[in-house]
This record gives sequence, structure tokens and C-alpha cells, in this order.
Amino acid sequence: MSVKDLPAWEALKEHANSMQTTHLRDLFLQDSYTDKPEPTSRFETFSVSHDGLLLDFSKQRITQKTVSLLKDLSQDCQLDQWKERLFSGDKINTSENRPALHTALRQPYYNQLLLDEHNIVADVHANLAHMSSMVGRIRAGQWRGYSGLPIDTIVNIGVGGSDLGPLMACNALIDAQPETSHQLKVHFVSSMDGSQIANLLNQLSPATTLFIISSKSFTTIDTLSNANTARQWLKSASGVKDDLLNRRHFIGVSASADKMDLWGIPKNSQLNFWDWTGGRYSMWSAIGLPIALHIGMAAFKEMLSGAHAMDEHFKHAPFEKNLPVQLGMIGIWNINFLNIHAHAILPYDGRLSHLPAYLEQLEMESNGKNVNRQGNVIDYHTCPILWGEIGPNAQHAFYQLLHQGTESVMCDFIAPARRYGGFDSTELEQQHQLSLANCLAQSRLLALGDAAIAGNDTAPTHKRYRGNQPSTTLLFNELTPFSFGQLIALYEHKVFVQSVIWDINPFDQWGVELGKKMATDLLKPLTNEQSSSPFDSSTEGLLCAILSQQRQSEQESH
Ligand code: F6P
Repeated sequence: MSVKDLPAWEALKEHANSMQTTHLRDLFLQDSYTDKPEPTSRFETFSVSHDGLLLDFSKQRITQKTVSLLKDLSQDCQLDQWKERLFSGDKINTSENRPALHTALRQPYYNQLLLDEHNIVADVHANLAHMSSMVGRIRAGQWRGYSGLPIDTIVNIGVGGSDLGPLMACNALIDAQPETSHQLKVHFVSSMDGSQIANLLNQLSPATTLFIISSKSFTTIDTLSNANTARQWLKSASGVKDDLLNRRHFIGVSASADKMDLWGIPKNSQLNFWDWTGGRYSMWSAIGLPIALHIGMAAFKEMLSGAHAMDEHFKHAPFEKNLPVQLGMIGIWNINFLNIHAHAILPYDGRLSHLPAYLEQLEMESNGKNVNRQGNVIDYHTCPILWGEIGPNAQHAFYQLLHQGTESVMCDFIAPARRYGGFDSTELEQQHQLSLANCLAQSRLLALGDAAIAGNDTAPTHKRYRGNQPSTTLLFNELTPFSFGQLIALYEHKVFVQSVIWDINPFDQWGVELGKKMATDLLKPLTNEQSSSPFDSSTEGLLCAILSQQRQSEQESH
């Protein structure tokens, strides 16, 4: 049976017929809900607070009827039972026959979670202890390079889930760095073409640089080619043998110990994680090593605690008060009933500049699927196109389309209430208030359109604002390791909620495989090897053009 056959889906479709033509301006005009003993405002009705987070979804095109029908839909889709299956380690990643247990990575040590009769929480904490000892040594300046000098620079080599989470977290938690005498610089390299690593290596000192090779599979060509370039650079600069370089200058993080062995990472420089941790859900595992090096192990553990607190909330809070459930179900309403297929992520805090890229992978790699759990092609929309940018910067770029374009877009505004310590009048504090004012102004204008500014309804058409673009605002007290952990886990669970309604497996990513295979075939003609198959005329034409350009530059250089 398809989700479209469920009574709640049908009821939501009917309800959407009237809501399609309802403007947010009018919903705010009826801003009093008198079925409660005390009339409440739209904000009071459609916002939820929990543990320092406030989710305001009153600027969504919803009424109480919408929320109640969405609750029915979640029940029809057995959301609670699916949550239970997720947390208990049921093999819900059916196409890979394994559980999705990222939540186990942030469980306190005294908890137990049995997988094949083995307590994996104990494994997680043994792993954290190993990670902690490495972090301690490196941060204390006791990990030395080939010449005996202490390591002062870390380069994480990884891509996708082995890059985006740690990169985002290191930027987000820059203020959480403890003061130490031995300061570490942390860099990230991901791009296959070598441009990032080439630029970076020019600025680094080989004797004091440590590379973390991060790859769940340890087969990703992007990562392995950057790692080989790094080792070659060290070799040429030092004249030292591979063995010493591998020991002093490389740490491997992977679910495949064998492949790390093969590459030459010594056993005690290997950190493992497990195949039940999806790549894009892995920043809580040893993949988070650069985060721990950047902010210290204690702060890393606070981040885990924040995520665990969100897990508990997701598990136990009722529908109406459950942040990930609300976020997920409102997305379903927008996508499947209001036909909105674009989603902008707009953090009003420069420290969250990498959040949009992180969520692009988390959401689109998880839920960008057109086949349900039974393998049938589905005939309803799933994950929308998601993109984003630091909000104030995006105001000077793509907000034009949000305000006056022809596309409906749903937006998430994300901001900390407090920064730089309060209401004093230093320049930085003023800048924070300015950023918040812009955040509130933009979501208000997007919702209400001209009605937000008195008199604008008589302006010429090119100056009019139609409004009715729905948004959610997520406000948190302060950006700390704990609140950051909560925030990311909130989005992870939101993605899960949506996957349950769409009846898809959010934990595999088969859609990325064929392209990698095809690139192997296309490398042949580019490296003077016989290619096995002819390609289409466009690909053949492009290959020809590339090869002739390359031949020409070769001739010019002779
Ligand atoms: O190709 C996609 C992907 O497999 C992502 O799912 C993953 O996060 C990324 O590549 C990197 O994979 P790995 O950690 O195995 O190098």
C-alpha cells in the first residue's frame, strides 16, 4: 500500500485545496485561537521550546487542522514504531542489511545497546578513550614529526561525510577552543582535482604537519589521491622512508582496518568505526577527530551530550512538542501538499557557514530517492532541492528570487539569541543585533509581503512583495558544543521522520555509485589506455577537445 492510499494523506490533500489559496498575511490576521480557554497568538500556538531551542513555525502556511492531520499521517505511517526500530538497532538499512546506529555513538557509557549480543556502547567508549589519548598527546605537543619537532598542524583528508561534518563543526565551535600553550591549526582538504591540497602544502611545514586520512570505506579515490600527494610531499621534503612518515605523520580513520593496514597506517595510529555508522551520520564517531583536536576532548563530549539529549527528546516527546517531528512533518506538508520543492537554509551566524553544505548531503543523500522500501518506484515527491548560505550574505545574492521570483521556497532561519556576551555597545555586539534584526525582518517580509510595510501595496509592481513564502525560525540561546550537537541531531531526526512518511530507506546512497564506476572507464582514454566502450557523441566530442588541448600545450612546452 502506498502512503497516498492512507486516509490521512487524502484528508491532507483536501485540506491543502483551501490552504493553497490562503495567504500567511491572512493567517496572521486571524491571530487568535479561541478554542483554547485563553485566546493564544499564532506564535504561541505554533512554536515549541525545548532545552534552550525555540522552533517557531508560525510563519508556515498551517492551521491547527493541518497539525492535527499531520499527526494522523504520522500515526498511519507508524512513526513511533519506526523510531523504536531506529534506536534499538533493527536492520532498517535493508539494502545494505544493517542498522543505522549513529545514536549509539552519543550514548553515555553506562547505557547498554546489544547488537548481535554485543554491547556496542562499550565499544564506542573504548574507541573514545583511544581517540582521547591521541588528542591528549597531540594537543600537549607530545606527538612529534620525523625530525622530532612537535606537530602543530593537522590536515584532514576526506570527502562527503568524512569532511563536511568536522569542517562545519570546527568553524561553528571556534569560540569553544580552550586556551593552551600549544596551539594547533586544523585544515581540511577534500577536492579530487588537487587544487586545495596543492595550495595548502605550499604554506605548510612538512616536519610539523600531521594528516588524518578519513574515509569510512578507505577506497574513495578523491581521498586516496590526496593522501598519496601528501605522502609524496613529505617524502620529497624530508628524504625520510615511508615507514617513519606513516608512523609520525598519518592517522587513519575508517571502518576498514584492513585497508588502512594496506595503505601503511600503523595499527596504533588507526581509529575505527563501524559499518552501522552511515558516512553522513559519522561526525560523532572517530571521524570527529579533527573536531576533538580543535576544541579538546571535553568539548567534543559536550557536543555528543547535546546530540544525545536531542535523541532522548525525539524518542519521548509527544507529537506536538517534538522538535524533529514538527520540523519533518511541516516539510512533508510543504513538499507533498503545498507543492514546494525548494528549501533554503539560512544561518544568521557566520560560524555556521558550512551548515548548508552539511545539510545538502544529510538531506539530499538520505532522502533523494524515488524508490520505496519495497523497491517500487514512487509517484510522490521526496527530498526537495536544498541549498543555502549565511543569511545576511544571501540577502545580497539570491533573496531577490525568494522575494520576487516565481518559485515557492521554504526557508529555515537559524540564529543564536546571544553572542559576544550581552547588550553592551561594543561594535561586535552591535553587529550581532544587526544580524538578528535582519533575520527577523526577512522572515517577516517573506511571510507577509507588502502587508509588512505600510503603504507598499500602492508601489509599482516591480517594487511589490507578494509574500506567502513559508519559513521556520530556529533560535537557540548560544552556539556551544552542546547546542550545536542538539542542532545537528535535530536535523538528522527530521530527515528520518520524512523518510518514514515517504517509505524510503534514508541510510543508503546507491545513486552515487554508477558515476564513480563510469569515471574509471573515462580515465582510460585520458591516460592513454584503450577504453572498453564507445561513449555518446557529446562525451566523445568533449574527450577529443580535452586531448587536443592537452597535446597542444605539450607541444608548446617543448
Ligand atoms: O560517494 C558518496 C559517499 O560514499 C558518501 O556517502 C560518503 O560520505 C563519501 O562518499 C565519502 O566516503 P568515505 O568516507 O568512504 O571515503
